[in-house]
Amino acid sequence: MATVERFGLSMEGDLLAGLDALSAARGYASRSDAVRALVRQQLVEQEWQDPQSEVIGTITLVYDHDHHDLLHALTDVQHRHHRAIVCSTHTHLDEANCLEVVIVRTTSRQAHQIADALLAARGVKHGRLVCTTTGRQVP
Ligand code: NI
Ligand code: NI
Repeated sequence: MATVERFGLSMEGDLLAGLDALSAARGYASRSDAVRALVRQQLVEQEWQDPQSEVIGTITLVYDHDHHDLLHALTDVQHRHHRAIVCSTHTHLDEANCLEVVIVRTTSRQAHQIADALLAARGVKHGRLVCTTTGRQVP
């Protein structure tokens, strides 16, 4: 286990109140837990900035399957990037709407390209890419 270092932290009262509110909202047990989580989150986000760092991403899409050419467009994007796509799953939300989740494992840059292409397809109502890093660099 890594050694835990202690250090003092100073911040303005309103910033500290913000930290406590955030901590309460997210259910952290202590200020230390909250600060650790925030630092980790920033470090992960910084890794995504590096276009060659490998990420695992989930791309969630909600769309109307009746929309003309949409299914073809979504399939086409996924075939173009087939090496980066781990799997995808689909569920029918109601008579018209579908939910699709595509899992990608690739560079941060390509994950964003795939997500942008899928989300830009006409008929997609809502969607988002959520990434986490694997800590690897892709050569
Ligand atoms: Ni196919
Ligand atoms: Ni469906």
